[in-house]
This record gives sequence, structure tokens and C-alpha cells, in this order.
Amino acid sequence: LKEKYLSAIADASDEAAIEEVRIAALGKKGEVSLKMRELGKMTPEERQTAGPALNALKDELNSALIARKTALADAALEERLRGEWLDVTLPARRRPAGSIHPISQVSEEVTAIFASLGFSVAEGPRVESDWYNFDALNIPGHHPARAEMDTFYMRRAEGDNRPPAVLRTHTSPVQIRTMEKSGAPIRIICPGGVYRADYDQTHTPMFHQIEGLAIDKDISMANLKWVLEQFFTAFFGTEVKTRFRASHFPFTEPSAEVDVQCAWDNGTVKVGEGDDWLEVLGSGMVHPNVLRNAGIDPDEYQGFAFGMGIDRLAMLKYGIPDLRAFFDSDLRWLRHYGFAA
Ligand code: PHE
Repeated sequence: LKEKYLSAIADASDEAAIEEVRIAALGKKGEVSLKMRELGKMTPEERQTAGPALNALKDELNSALIARKTALADAALEERLRGEWLDVTLPARRRPAGSIHPISQVSEEVTAIFASLGFSVAEGPRVESDWYNFDALNIPGHHPARAEMDTFYMRRAEGDNRPPAVLRTHTSPVQIRTMEKSGAPIRIICPGGVYRADYDQTHTPMFHQIEGLAIDKDISMANLKWVLEQFFTAFFGTEVKTRFRASHFPFTEPSAEVDVQCAWDNGTVKVGEGDDWLEVLGSGMVHPNVLRNAGIDPDEYQGFAFGMGIDRLAMLKYGIPDLRAFFDSDLRWLRHYGFAA
């Protein structure tokens, strides 16, 4: 009996086989267990020899089972270790590091500078109603600005007779949304993508603006000028010449466009020298109609607003003369300017 089970244990090649042997020998109806049960029917003399012999057999089989189990587990571990062996001396495969797109970098920088001036960040949707994008901003339906802005209109579902939604042409609708939501006083900036059907060296159909809005009881054009000059100095790291040009926007009165001095030449643009100017923002004092449209009393509050092109600022900061390159996703170009590894 002993030889039979010891060799069965030695032959067992996995845990299930071991368990089978255990049940056959030591299970409730196992051969050894049955023999132990027969002890009761034996004479005391017979029992005295058979009892210890059976117990010894049981113990021996038990240890053999455990030993075999351990041996199998060790072998399996060996096998795995051999299979998962790594040669740590092999040269590593390079994984190109990701990096933040220059437009996002500039957007974050601009946001940080305005945050230090006490402005918090507001956001609005890119698909906008024509009320927020135009009417509330004092641009009525017949106004030429609607055509000038080269608006992308969204198609409505068949039978939906509401006026078409638009891809926002500027971040100014966020002015209205913020005034409605939080009332005066306000100090916010709003960075985000905007859309116009326009394409040349300094225009892409999708680009980025940062809107600024400050509403309070004693705000004047002088505050606007000071804030913008603080901003330009911080952003370019040096004092740069700016030019405030009288302009017109339906939602500000008076209005000014601001240009930054730069030099364009042979594939580069340099800020702060030369006699070229790049327009980077529109601005002005918020028109009373706009305040009224958003539920703020223009007799009590005034404010300034501006909207600047983030992409234009990035062109100037990094000396890139063609705006379109920012959106080509050309890795070689990004690497050339140090924007990607
Ligand atoms: N929304 C204007 C534009 O996109 C810029 C602007 C913003 C002008 C705020 C005045 C005040 O051109």
C-alpha cells in the first residue's frame, strides 16, 4: 500500500493529480482511511501492531504529499523566472517626451500674469447662440460687423426654426454670460478658441483669444491702458512700444485697437524693434447697451473690456512670422522651435 501511494505521489505532475492521490488514500473513503476504520473490529493484540503501523503510514503519505506539492510550486516559479528574465544591460528604447503646445503655453502664461493682477478665469461655450455672440453685444441683425466677422453658422435640424447657432467669432460673449451670472463688480479673463472663415499669414479659421473684463464704479480708459502696459511688460520681459489706435466696436465706446512694435524680416519677426506694427487686441469702455443687456445699471457701473489674440502674442514672443504653422502639427517644425523633443 505504501509503495503504491508513494509512487503515485512521485508520478503526480500537478496539483490536481496530487489531490486525486490524497483522496484515494486519505480521503473519507480512501483506502488508508477504510483500513483505519477496520481497526475497531480487530482483537486488541491485532490492533496494537496494526494501529501504529497505519498511523505511521498516514503520516508518511501526508508528508510525501506536502513535499511533492512544494516541489511542483518551486519548479513552476523557476520556470516563470526563466521566462520573465530581463536583460537590464540592453540599451533603452527612446520614447519622445510630450510637450505643451506653444499656444497653450502662452495661454497659461497670459492667464498667470492677469491672475497676479487680480483677474480670475471665466469660460463659455464655443458653439454660441447669435444672441450672446452678436445681439447682446450691441451688434443687431443688419449690422455689417456680422458679415465682417466671417461667421461660421451651424445647420439646425430640419423643422427647427430657431436662428442658427454660430461658432463664436470672439470671446466677447463670455462678457455677457459673466455679467448675467455674477453681476458687478467683475474682474475676469476668458481664454479660448474662436472661429472665423479667414486664412492667410496672420489669420487661421480657428484661433485663440483672451477676453478681459473689469466692471466697477470708477473704471476708466486709464485703468485699461495701465493694465495692458503692465501685461505687455510682464509678458515680453521688457518694455515694448505699444500703439493705441482709435477704433470702433459696437460693444465698446470709446474703442481702441492696440498694436505692438515689431520688425518683420526674412522669415522672422522681432518684438520691440523695427517699424512694423502687429495688431494684438481690440479694447474699449463697455457700451452702456451691453451693460443693460446683461442686467447691469450703466449709471452705477462702468468697465473696460479687451480681446487679444493669443496666437499673435505667441508669434511675437517666439519670432514666428506665419501663424498657420502653429496648427500644422508638423513635428519637425515644433522641434525646430524647441516646442517638442
Ligand atoms: N471682440 C473683439 C474682436 O474679436 C475684440 C474686443 C474685445 C474689442 C473686447 C473690444 C472689447 O475683435
